[in-house]
Amino acid sequence: MTDSQGSRIPGFYNLTLEERRAELSRRGALTSEALSALAGDDGLRASQADHMIENVIGVYALPVGVALNFVVNGREVLVPMVIEEPSVVAGASFMAKLARAGGGFIAHTTAPEMIGQMQLLDTPDLPTARLALLEQKDRLLAEAASIDPVLERLGGGPRDLEVRVIEDSPIGPFLVIHLIYDVRDAMGANAINTACERLAPRIESITGGRVHLRILSNLSDRRLARARCTIPLSELTFGRDAPPGRLYAGEDVRDKIIEAWAFAAADPYRAATHNKGIMNGVDPVVIVTGNDWRAVETGAHAYAARGGRYTSLSTWGRDHLGNLVGALEMPLAVGIVGGATKVHPAARAALELMGVTTASELAEIIVSVGLAQNLAALRALATEGIQRGHMSLHARQVAIAAGADGNQIETLAQQLVAEQTVRIDRAEEILREWKTSRQVNK
Ligand code: MEV
Repeated sequence: MTDSQGSRIPGFYNLTLEERRAELSRRGALTSEALSALAGDDGLRASQADHMIENVIGVYALPVGVALNFVVNGREVLVPMVIEEPSVVAGASFMAKLARAGGGFIAHTTAPEMIGQMQLLDTPDLPTARLALLEQKDRLLAEAASIDPVLERLGGGPRDLEVRVIEDSPIGPFLVIHLIYDVRDAMGANAINTACERLAPRIESITGGRVHLRILSNLSDRRLARARCTIPLSELTFGRDAPPGRLYAGEDVRDKIIEAWAFAAADPYRAATHNKGIMNGVDPVVIVTGNDWRAVETGAHAYAARGGRYTSLSTWGRDHLGNLVGALEMPLAVGIVGGATKVHPAARAALELMGVTTASELAEIIVSVGLAQNLAALRALATEGIQRGHMSLHARQVAIAAGADGNQIETLAQQLVAEQTVRIDRAEEILREWKTSRQVNK
């Protein structure tokens, strides 16, 4: 997606499925192959899936939506999202619209450095083993560099070697060696695991110990993604046309959002839900690009607890002009080469839609969507509550589950919301009533 085409597509929501696809084609946002991969017509085939995991019997589909209005580091981006939960794509798009009025999202990443861990047991003396390893650091790094010449050519490879002492564990003290490895545009699990396995014998011969586990750490706190945004006060005001009592002034909304964030900052019970809202934005883009969302989830939550108490991954406050400002920092180990990202046609199409050419760029978009989604939840919770916005979308799902199809879905959903009874039994009852009245009128 190039800048001139933009990520604002007014009325996209009201188009039919076919019209939305046609609009993306018309804008040149995607090639026809990429479009049909994302549309599901030409997505992952069972025969391809058969090479990805074991005992394959098929493929499993989820909705793909496109979040609009995103501007990340001055670039317009259409963001594909795979998610089953209603309101997420709409929420992200809406908040991206508010943020673009303040210049969009400013995002950056640290170097794509992963941590590989080696657990060193049975060393006669921990301080001696530690120093022996540190003395040999250059040699060990040189050896690690020779393991993956391709990565080395691309500018990646080992960066550092740290030796930690675990003083207290159920089996007593031991050493842990951290190999810091720049994996460039890969997620990097294979590269780092291979490097650890290959380095282990050398570590044993230097220390006389036994290397037990050799595996990456998912607390990838050297591979951080950060995003911030400014929401002008004017964008926070809403309900101007609503009846008195339903007008929300910008200052009020800003302060209520900050109060809501303070709850998550102080209380782990709230922080878990708050961060789930962030992951509502993060995971769908991680998934659509074929990345390992369990790794990203684990990394995020471990990072949220790094200070010894689980807390919010984001912060919200006000700038010198009184605008709302938000920031999000989290580990984001995502890649654009290798693994499912290469194999899955829809993952490749998703990268094409976002115009992403490096893993860092992908992480910058993902962290921005996480921040947008966090704002969507906080704004709703801090003002009219989450259910109002949720209900109409939820009602559609209930209508479909009750057996409605075509135009029936929207009509039935509207009736359920109007009756304030968004329940499957009522939806089925209405469908039965419609069927009976159709038979009577025949
Ligand atoms: C629901 O999927 C996510 C929220 O619970 C997030 C939050 O409470 O901040 C709405």
